Amino acid sequence: MKIFLDSANIDEIKRTKEWGLLDGVTTNPTLLAKEGNDPVKQLEQICNIVEGPVSAEVIGLEWENMVKEAKELRKIAENIVIKIPVTLDGLKAIKILEEEGIPTNATLCFSPLQALLVAKAGGSYVSPFVGRLDDIADDGMHIVEEIVQIYDNYAFDTEVIVASIRHPMHVLISAQIGADICTIPFNTIAQLVKHPLTDVGLKRFLEDWKKLEAKAKR
Ligand code: G3P
Repeated sequence: MKIFLDSANIDEIKRTKEWGLLDGVTTNPTLLAKEGNDPVKQLEQICNIVEGPVSAEVIGLEWENMVKEAKELRKIAENIVIKIPVTLDGLKAIKILEEEGIPTNATLCFSPLQALLVAKAGGSYVSPFVGRLDDIADDGMHIVEEIVQIYDNYAFDTEVIVASIRHPMHVLISAQIGADICTIPFNTIAQLVKHPLTDVGLKRFLEDWKKLEAKAKR
């Protein structure tokens, strides 16, 4: 399973890359607004660091504007993937862009049927938002399971990016289900490595080593 960082923060992106975990990055208007810089310059900086795909979202709601914006965003770097909302206009924009060789990531996906349509339109990626489904007492991970099943049934090439991840269980279940990618916030990536028994074990090893050193000095 590939790991993407769900962030537009340069420091977080650099640190995740240094840990050897960065397969790609996803951004959205909220994440770019949080950084407060010119979004094009911010995306340029991100693309200079990241070797894998970097998702950047269009703002337009009509397919013509989506396609126009997508072409502008692609001028930033070759690894830009265009994030497009799952609407009828979005599906049309996905079809046009993919036919022109521009990869898309269908965003704000909340149902397996939406994901089916994205695959039919030829989208490179689909992003089910699991945390936001859990927020309304739905079951985000169950939707991912259904999408993976449908894509397997018909051998669709569209990759599933599990998005709106809130905690490590979302990542674990994604890997068990066989989702292609998880896009994870920085804090959750850091949580994945934590285990209390690792900390306790490390403390004990160091204490025992110090005892051995003290004995050797006597
Ligand atoms: O990748 C989509 C993600 O950024 C949405 O996350 O936490 O705003 O639901 P959240």
